[in-house]
Amino acid sequence: METNTLKILWYFVFLLTRMMKDETSVILDSLGFHKGLLVETIVSTIDENGKPNAAPMGVWRGEDNILVLKIYRDTRTYRNIKVRRKFVINLTFNVELFYKTLFKVEGLEELFDYSRKMVVPPLKGVDCYIEAEMIKEEKVGERSTLYAQITNITIIRKRPNVFSRCLFLTIESLIHFTRIRAFLNEGKIEEARKLSELISHYYEIIRRNCRGGPYINILNDLINRIDEWGRDWRNRTS
Ligand SMILES: Cc1cc2nc3c(=O)[nH]c(=O)nc-3n(C[C@H](O)[C@H](O)[C@H](O)COP(=O)(O)O)c2cc1C
Repeated sequence: METNTLKILWYFVFLLTRMMKDETSVILDSLGFHKGLLVETIVSTIDENGKPNAAPMGVWRGEDNILVLKIYRDTRTYRNIKVRRKFVINLTFNVELFYKTLFKVEGLEELFDYSRKMVVPPLKGVDCYIEAEMIKEEKVGERSTLYAQITNITIIRKRPNVFSRCLFLTIESLIHFTRIRAFLNEGKIEEARKLSELISHYYEIIRRNCRGGPYINILNDLINRIDEWGRDWRNRTS
């Protein structure tokens, strides 16, 4: 092929890639997934045998629409992404899905939407899912920073949402809960105590304002689990 033809071809590919990137930027912006914003999501993965898993994970949008995850290496999600590279990021306001995928409550299998015939199934009832593929890993302490490129975005529902402070208090409580577990394992009792006090504080707000919805049941369960840990820990150290 002539050099000029090659140059034109290269320029055409360059333009096409730019256009695709721009389209992705427009979609992400329209979802409110802005650059430099940590978004709470649920990540679906499959293991080497094809068994699906899902867990809440924070995702950042970096430069050029590269998505960034900071994941503890002792999680199933990390292991599955390392094996398969491909994964799905589910976007939802449904706090019960965060709760169920965190604790792998009975019927986790039931939460996946197999009707979409995807290798890594998204979750049922989510507003949007983003298919992604890991391209780079950086290890930092016990966590790894994973960089992933977007291969597809499917928007299922753009909808108005009612706004309740209890949604955020519940998500915050779930995150604190996973940190308390880590602190107790490391023997950092004071840090664990501070976070469990914050959860008790959020519980009081939820009890007063949000008896409707799933919030109070989730908080009751978290408080029971923390009490159990406290008892275990006291037994071990007495
Ligand atoms: C809202 C929310 C966000 C979370 N974000 C992260 C995260 O960014 N990285 C991480 O390693 N764990 C995160 N976690 C904790 C994991 O979900 C938790 O460790 C889970 O048990 C991992 O499950 P897996 O072993 O099935 O992957 C988050 C938890 C919640 C509730």
